[in-house]
Amino acid sequence: MTSLLHEPHAKERRLIFANISKPGYKPDIETYLAHGGYAEAKKAFTMKPEEIVQEVKASNLRGRGGAAFPTGAKWGFIRHDDGKPHYLCVNGDESEPGTFKDRFILHQDPHQLIEGIIITCFALNIRLAYIYVRCEFTYAKEILERALKEASERGFLGKNIFGSGFDLEVYVHEGAGAYICGEETSLLESLEGKRPYPRIKPPYFPAVLGLYMSPTIVNNVETICHVKHILRLGAAEYAAMGTSGDGGTRTFCVSGDVVRPGFYELPVGAVTMGELIFDLCGGLRPGRTLKAIIPGGSSSKILRAGEVYKIKSKAADGSMIEKEVKLLDLVLDAASVAAAGSMVGSAAVIVMDDSRNMVWALNNLNQFYAHESCGQCTPCREGTLWMSKLSTRMLSGKGEASDPTMLHTIADNIAGRTICAFGEAASWPTQSFIDKFPEEFEAML
Ligand SMILES: Cc1cc2nc3c(=O)[nH]c(=O)nc-3n(C[C@H](O)[C@H](O)[C@H](O)COP(=O)(O)O)c2cc1C
Ligand code: SF4
Repeated sequence: MTSLLHEPHAKERRLIFANISKPGYKPDIETYLAHGGYAEAKKAFTMKPEEIVQEVKASNLRGRGGAAFPTGAKWGFIRHDDGKPHYLCVNGDESEPGTFKDRFILHQDPHQLIEGIIITCFALNIRLAYIYVRCEFTYAKEILERALKEASERGFLGKNIFGSGFDLEVYVHEGAGAYICGEETSLLESLEGKRPYPRIKPPYFPAVLGLYMSPTIVNNVETICHVKHILRLGAAEYAAMGTSGDGGTRTFCVSGDVVRPGFYELPVGAVTMGELIFDLCGGLRPGRTLKAIIPGGSSSKILRAGEVYKIKSKAADGSMIEKEVKLLDLVLDAASVAAAGSMVGSAAVIVMDDSRNMVWALNNLNQFYAHESCGQCTPCREGTLWMSKLSTRMLSGKGEASDPTMLHTIADNIAGRTICAFGEAASWPTQSFIDKFPEEFEAML
């Protein structure tokens, strides 16, 4: 176990990290098989492909890459009557600041991912899959290639896998080294050997017009790993772990000003923000108070300590009720965090205490987004640069009275006016930091 995966807390339920938590667990095929590995891949071949898709739909699995889109619904968009080949692209780009779970899975338990790929490909009649790995993950790439070789040598990949008559090839593809390569259509352009410019949706939804203009499923590394556990537990048990419409467990990566940063795998909705920070992560550093939380990777809107949200939910009699919920009582599922005005995103929780300067923190993010814009759309290309210049100016003490308003206006003119969701990802930090901490921006003038 690494120092970032702690002794399991009573609230945790480990599926994705179950093997990794075992002492002496190694990322090789013998170890994986000794822990029951590939049993679900074998089981998949005793099922009909459409039964597997149905199980994934019924499990309420939502994508773990950021958008929390229902995985079964996405798989259902694939047409099987168009005569085109189908592809699976596993998104291992993991560039969202604060997120570090996929790399951990790739390093520690690569066969779990390969088993998920086999099941997914059989379910969707896919004969060729790619694992797109961020180029800086050189060690992950090495481990994956070794694991793919091991699986091929055992007859789990290649021709007639598990004697089923089904053929499947899987390749690792090294990413192009930019944040935007994690956006699914940009990833496909990159995989095709082109500059990673995102495609316009519609019409280029990957499930319809994806890799080489063929139906393609793009799913996050963790999402694909969950598929094995859905077959193992059955959709009903998997779904029951989570909340309505949001099943299973989520792997949280907590960083920032907590005593025990690291990985926490929790049933969806099992804990509140306060329980995650204080019970699981050991609370804040001594003598410090909570200032803010970014709940789902740097692109999600920041939440301020002490905030109270009005959240609607269904009462026992089916009527809708509205409750006031404090930040620390916010349940960690996609719907609740969305109702608080942010998103659970990649479940990368960044905790900030009272020692943090919000203008400094925003400037740090603005520099990142200005550097990572692909430059295809004018509002994003120009706006991210202007935002980083303005926040740098404010930080240097040379800001002008109109700067906070100007900064906000630039963000307002990026979001919703671009080809891809990077526009929102870059604008939401600026909009929310200024809205939530106006006094800190005024104090810099
Ligand atoms: C700018 C940007 C960067 C993204 N980066 C990643 C990433 O690194 N990894 C990832 O899985 N999804 C990333 N996404 C989301 C993907 O576009 C896509 O929704 C996801 O891979 C789908 O997988 P899922 O349904 O399993 O979550 C990014 C999206 C945007 C807009
Ligand atoms: S929004 Fe930004 S990153 Fe996305 S296509 Fe436009 S310029 Fe590129």
